[in-house]
Amino acid sequence: MNILLYGGAFNPPHMGHRHAVETFKEAHMPDKLIIMPTGTSPHKPLPAYSPSNAQRLELCRAMFGDIAEVSDIEINSNDTNYTIHTVQKLLQQYPGAKITLGIGSDMLLALHQWYKVDKLCQIVEFSALSRCHDDDTTLERQALYMQQTYGAAIHMLKHDAIEISSSTLRVQLRRGDLPQHITPLLPYIDELGLYRTKSEKLSTSEIQRILQTTLSDARYRHCMRTAEFAAELAHCHGLDATEALRAGLWHDLTKEFSHAEQAAVADNFKLPSSCHGQTAACLCFDKYGESREVAHAVAVHVCGEIGMSEFAKCIYIADKCEPGRDYLGVAQWRKLAKIDLNAAFIAIADELTGWRISQSKPAAPKLLAVRNWLMGM
Ligand SMILES: [Fe+2]
Ligand SMILES: [Fe+2]
Repeated sequence: MNILLYGGAFNPPHMGHRHAVETFKEAHMPDKLIIMPTGTSPHKPLPAYSPSNAQRLELCRAMFGDIAEVSDIEINSNDTNYTIHTVQKLLQQYPGAKITLGIGSDMLLALHQWYKVDKLCQIVEFSALSRCHDDDTTLERQALYMQQTYGAAIHMLKHDAIEISSSTLRVQLRRGDLPQHITPLLPYIDELGLYRTKSEKLSTSEIQRILQTTLSDARYRHCMRTAEFAAELAHCHGLDATEALRAGLWHDLTKEFSHAEQAAVADNFKLPSSCHGQTAACLCFDKYGESREVAHAVAVHVCGEIGMSEFAKCIYIADKCEPGRDYLGVAQWRKLAKIDLNAAFIAIADELTGWRISQSKPAAPKLLAVRNWLMGM
């Protein structure tokens, strides 16, 4: 029996891992393909916000279950997991099997440091993925060294890798982003509230209490009006009015934070900037348990975003047109928004751009880009 074994922390597993598994499968056509999530060591625990071992196992089954068998040998073991021991356990289970270890190029370069590598090389072969940008000369030199020193059999596989790391994904998941390389697992991750601090929502009165203690009275009342108009717009367009109300409430949560407070939130969530929309989105998702849809709308309420959802457009427009706004033309936009969100967004973007130019300020490039996207330009 030919077994292809591919191990890793898979915290979380993603499409890059799946693509690697598919490459191994196509190249080796194994009788059995085994995914081996690593166990956690008391000396080297998984990073904060990581799921439990049982949940990580479930994530792996959801990601690979249709193309591979997911093993719990390592994840359910209390001992330090060395590959040599895992392979020996598999050989007891499948006597006489030929085991090929699927590894990445980084692992190939460190292979000589593996525990009991000399013994390991006698009982397995290796299949090493080389990414398009990898230095093949270095990899081939290492493969030759391993062959000459330990008798290792190493097959090199050129691989068009999906460049994404689990650590980047963990940050994106925690701040409420919608990372595309993990899309199939998102419903499960959100249902169980993985990779975040809290996933139970507050009541609207609890949200209001937080806003009252965080914001000035004028800003608090703006948030209340934005929330109510956002809910009205959502209702007009067949969207979730309750969620729109919540997004409207949260949208300016951090608007009156000091520069240092904004920077601290941005730093905590590894945000590229400390825009108040983005910091508010991170807090309302991670700390206050809102949905990704609400977090996305809050994140983009300042300038919009190309590809933004209809729901997010409601929050953007409600913020600019709530009944407390009294600039020229706003009454018309309120009416227009109930019929056509895109037309209202474009009208608002044009007005804001015109106003900025009249104040000798440059037009906001991001807003212009969204406006042009909506115009189909
Ligand atoms: Fe705002
Ligand atoms: Fe606002």
